[in-house]
Amino acid sequence: MSTSPQPGPDEQDAGTPVWLNDFPHTAAGEEAVTRRAFTRYLVAGSGVFAAATVGAAAWTSLRDLDDGTPQAIVELDQVPENGAHLFRYPGPHDPAVLIRLPEGELVAYSQKCTHLGCVVFYEPDETELVCPCHEGIFDAATGAAIAGPPERALPTIEVEVRDGTVWAIGVTR
Ligand code: FES
Repeated sequence: MSTSPQPGPDEQDAGTPVWLNDFPHTAAGEEAVTRRAFTRYLVAGSGVFAAATVGAAAWTSLRDLDDGTPQAIVELDQVPENGAHLFRYPGPHDPAVLIRLPEGELVAYSQKCTHLGCVVFYEPDETELVCPCHEGIFDAATGAAIAGPPERALPTIEVEVRDGTVWAIGVTR
C-alpha cells in the first residue's frame, strides 16, 4: 500500500501555489524586471561616466588657462648665443628652457615632452630640442615636433626683454 503525499495548504487551488498569489511574477516577468533593472543601471552608469568625463574636461581646460603670470627669468647677457638657460614656469614644478638661437632670437618652451612628459634638452649643434626617452625631436625655432613619437609641439612660453632682463609673460599651449 502506497501513500501519496497530501497536497499542502499552499497547493490546494488547482495546482497553483499560494505563494504565486503573493509574488505574481512569472519567469518571463522576472526576466523583464531584470532587463529593466539592468537598463536602469546602464543608464545610471552612463550618466555617472558622462558627468565624470565632463568634469575631467573642465578641470583640464581650467589647467590650460593657468598660463602664468609675468616673471623675470635671467639677465639677457647671462644667456650665451646658441645656448640655453633652464628655469621654472609657470609654476615652481614646471621645467622650462630659454634658448638664444644662433640669430639672437629668444624662444622658450616647456621642457616636458609632449609624448610622455620626459624632460627635453637643447642640442645647439642641431638647434633642436631632444627628448632622451624615445628620441623625440623638436624644432628649437618653433617648438614643433619634427621626429620621433611626439605629435604635438612643445608649449611655448612667451618671453620679452625688459631693461636687459628676460621675462616670461605667459604660456601658449
Ligand atoms: S617622452 Fe619624449 S619621446 Fe617619448
